Amino acid sequence: MTVKSAELALHTDFTIDTVDDRIFGGFLEHMGRSIYEGVYDPDSEHADEDGMRTDVLDALRQLEMPLVRYPGGNFASGYHWLDGVGNKTSRPVVRELAWQSIEPNQFGTDEFIQLCRKLDWEPMLAVNLGTGTPEEARNWVEYCNAQAGTKFADMRVKNGNPIPHAVPIWCLGNEMDGPWQLGHVPADEYAISAQQAAKMMKGCDGSIQTVACGSSGHQMPTFGDWDRTILEKLGAGLADYISLHRYVGNPDGNLTDYLAISNSIDQQIETIDACARYVQGKRRSTRRSYLCFDEWNVWYRARGGTHSDGQGQFAPHLIEERYNFEDALVVAMFLMSFIRHADSVKIANLAQLVNVIAPVLTRGDHLLKQSIFYAFRMISIRKGGVALRHSIACDGYESSTYGHVKDLDSASIIEGNLLKVFALNRNPEDVMQLRVSIADRAIGRVLSSDILHAESAEASNDFDNPEAVISTEYEGWTVKNDATTEIPPLGLIATTFEMT
Ligand code: AHR
Repeated sequence: MTVKSAELALHTDFTIDTVDDRIFGGFLEHMGRSIYEGVYDPDSEHADEDGMRTDVLDALRQLEMPLVRYPGGNFASGYHWLDGVGNKTSRPVVRELAWQSIEPNQFGTDEFIQLCRKLDWEPMLAVNLGTGTPEEARNWVEYCNAQAGTKFADMRVKNGNPIPHAVPIWCLGNEMDGPWQLGHVPADEYAISAQQAAKMMKGCDGSIQTVACGSSGHQMPTFGDWDRTILEKLGAGLADYISLHRYVGNPDGNLTDYLAISNSIDQQIETIDACARYVQGKRRSTRRSYLCFDEWNVWYRARGGTHSDGQGQFAPHLIEERYNFEDALVVAMFLMSFIRHADSVKIANLAQLVNVIAPVLTRGDHLLKQSIFYAFRMISIRKGGVALRHSIACDGYESSTYGHVKDLDSASIIEGNLLKVFALNRNPEDVMQLRVSIADRAIGRVLSSDILHAESAEASNDFDNPEAVISTEYEGWTVKNDATTEIPPLGLIATTFEMT
């Protein structure tokens, strides 16, 4: 095994921007077993007095997510929020068309808010601009955010919630550029309904922030043009954010190519940020729309066919992706990219949380933490602070799809005297001898460090072997003004240093 050196050079004055805590958000959709048999399962032995699964909640709490998006996803484009409030015995059971499932509406707005309060999540709601109307969206804002005294606010009070839910972030629909979306329309038509909805919603509560639908993926023919069209119409006044979505995978089993995908994630972010900056300039505005990466993850095995078709069932097993070690590294690469783009990416939501392309799986009353759970947590628990620019000197390789990448993928955050460094050796064969230095300071000691490593890139947790891929405490640093260590091939290390 060859040892190769890598230098990560930092300076505390060379900052990017404050890392918004909300880049560590999550996403819960009424899909498959995400809600029912996921977070909400009154029949489980783990259910609390509100029917929430305490084992699932305990696991999700460890991810330290500050906000969660709900109720979809594609589900949102056919969802009528009024079906999911009020007395549970009178809520309608409906045929759900996004995933061809049965939706009993036993979990709705008030239950989601209750869940958010239990987990200290900020709620983020996606309105229906597929089969719904701008007015229906506006009424939901009133139901959630207005003081008592008007029709929908009084309905909330009558449903047992005198204090407004105070939902701060609202998505103006979901993936409206996608032909699969209920109510899919061309960009200029979506721009009009999003504009109307945003006006009415902000008219109802001027403090809310809105997320306009961007193109639903960088592979879409709409990519770029759609985003520009929407932002030109709405501006940052009606679209505080524009959404990005991305699901990635390794269908050809090409590990080095897969681990170079950070180039493409960076490029997606920079392209949409360029649209937002272009529109700001064209509108001669002092404000620009920021980026809300409100769906991202690895998702390629459990795709299409029966994975996405609930066949008229309640809580069917849909897109229950099983993750391995290499997927966890890719999840870390997404987060490092968001940190490096702290000046544009302000919100991001891991899609999703339980059972459906998720870090946590349930089987009966059992629970499993997948590999991606650990990668997410290692970085999320070190949130807070300002992202630093860096200079990296090391070897790299040419990937077949994504161009040249360096062996080291990294991001750094400074918070007072704390320096948080995330480092991935994406070389599958060589050990990386890494030196971290801060030009204007010295590193004093390691406060905490975790490593994610496994026997092979394909190693994966399952209910019989739940700890094949877990993070463990790392003690391999030597600190003497600089910090040095040897990262094993495919090792991911997250460290909090104290600077002197
Ligand atoms: O997260 C699963 C689905 O992926 C979402 O419902 C949709 O927005 C995206 O296509």
